[in-house]
Amino acid sequence: MSVFRTKPVEQSIRDTEEPEHRLRRELSALDLTVFGVGVVIGTGIFVLTGVAAKTTAGPAVALSFVIAGIACALAALCYAEFASTVPVAGSAYTFSYATLGELVAWIIGWDLILEFIIGSAVVAVGWSQYLAVFLDTIGVELPSAIASSEDGAFNLPAVLIVLVLTAVLVAGIKLSSRVNEVVVAIKVAVVLFVIIAGAFFIERDNYTPFVPPSEPAPDTSGLHATLVETVFGQAPANFGVSGIFAAAALVFFAFIGFDIVATTAEETKHPQRDLPRGIIGSLLICTVLYVAVSLVVVGMRNYTDLDEAAPLAAAFRAVDQPFFANLITVGALAGLTTVMMILMLGQSRVAFAMSRDGLLPRPLSIVHPRFGTPYRITIIVGVVVAVLAGIIPLAELAELVNIGTLFAFVLVSIGVVVLRRTRPDLPRAFRLPLMPLIPVLSLLACLVLMFFLTVETWLRFLAWMAIGFVVYFAYSRRRSRLAVRQQEYGEDRTVG
Ligand code: ALA
Repeated sequence: MSVFRTKPVEQSIRDTEEPEHRLRRELSALDLTVFGVGVVIGTGIFVLTGVAAKTTAGPAVALSFVIAGIACALAALCYAEFASTVPVAGSAYTFSYATLGELVAWIIGWDLILEFIIGSAVVAVGWSQYLAVFLDTIGVELPSAIASSEDGAFNLPAVLIVLVLTAVLVAGIKLSSRVNEVVVAIKVAVVLFVIIAGAFFIERDNYTPFVPPSEPAPDTSGLHATLVETVFGQAPANFGVSGIFAAAALVFFAFIGFDIVATTAEETKHPQRDLPRGIIGSLLICTVLYVAVSLVVVGMRNYTDLDEAAPLAAAFRAVDQPFFANLITVGALAGLTTVMMILMLGQSRVAFAMSRDGLLPRPLSIVHPRFGTPYRITIIVGVVVAVLAGIIPLAELAELVNIGTLFAFVLVSIGVVVLRRTRPDLPRAFRLPLMPLIPVLSLLACLVLMFFLTVETWLRFLAWMAIGFVVYFAYSRRRSRLAVRQQEYGEDRTVG
């Protein structure tokens, strides 16, 4: 049983035709773009902009968004070619099963859990913090024992919102996408509002110095140094040019999610044409908005005075515009809702694909007879996210989400080149120009961002991946449908 066995692309596409495991094809390019924007604009811009500017990059955080955006655009192009060649649920997992073999596919699937499950739990905790700000403005205060994830408290609002969204997802993809459209419209309106209204309050002085000089980091523990600093034996520092890159590795979180558009391939009416459009379209819109928002916010407030919890709302409060601040809080609440929903959707689709392949128990991927959704997996994902969001303080785990996602991008960049070599015959609605330049640049950009994450994040990531290896060799390797079929047909025949 080779861990490098690959699942032929034709087999992946045939699997999607099995009636019991078939999803409905209902999404258009516009639906996909809205989906992308819905999951991308969230905690990253509404919360992390403040932290990144204040502690790591200063006003140059706008450049950090550009750097992270470029890395994502390169990866997005690789995703687009892959998704237009292998239009099957499961995203990076499915792509690598077709190219790099089962073990790598498993590693990616396992790795994507970091992006989706921990990502949605992080956002749920952020959502409940915004809710607290909102309730505070209308004079309601929740006891912290049931409204926070710190110090053994229980985060009831985070748990409830996750469970409500799980029910929406079980009820059907079309409903989820409708809910999403309304919320995305509100969210984009609020972001545009921040840019336009905020521009009137910009003070030029706040842009100097644009790149604050490098200074020693207050927390000098080795675990909190970036991998680059550790490897080159430098003392941990903030700001300066390396601060721009470290902030880019953090605000990368703001872009996470565009790849999820690729996970809905099976539910797209014209995947070959619409997937590349949906992925690249949503990424472009978000990058422009992020750079504009960050420039406005560091222009409104000196970066040293930025709020770390709700920087956009706080910037408006600081210029005596409490009504605008409240509007932004409500927009952020709505915005974070769709982020969670789509992250959970992404997780359920990847787990669906893994279960259909036998790497996770097969009965999990049975589709609901009426709703047409993989309801069992969706419910399990919802409960796991709810539990995590309820009990664990997750703010610092945002970096873990980033490293997991960047690693998936690295493997996709490699996979797209491999698939060109091994299956040049497959039809590709979207072909990367200048092969292999873009995948190579994408790989390098992702690695650079990964090296600017902290040693602590790397250790957590390696520990999670080690657990994944144990699960694969103890369970999934033997249960793999591909393995079972290969044994039936003889060890060395590829099953087509
Ligand atoms: N990109 C998403 C956010 O910023 C995950 O919240």
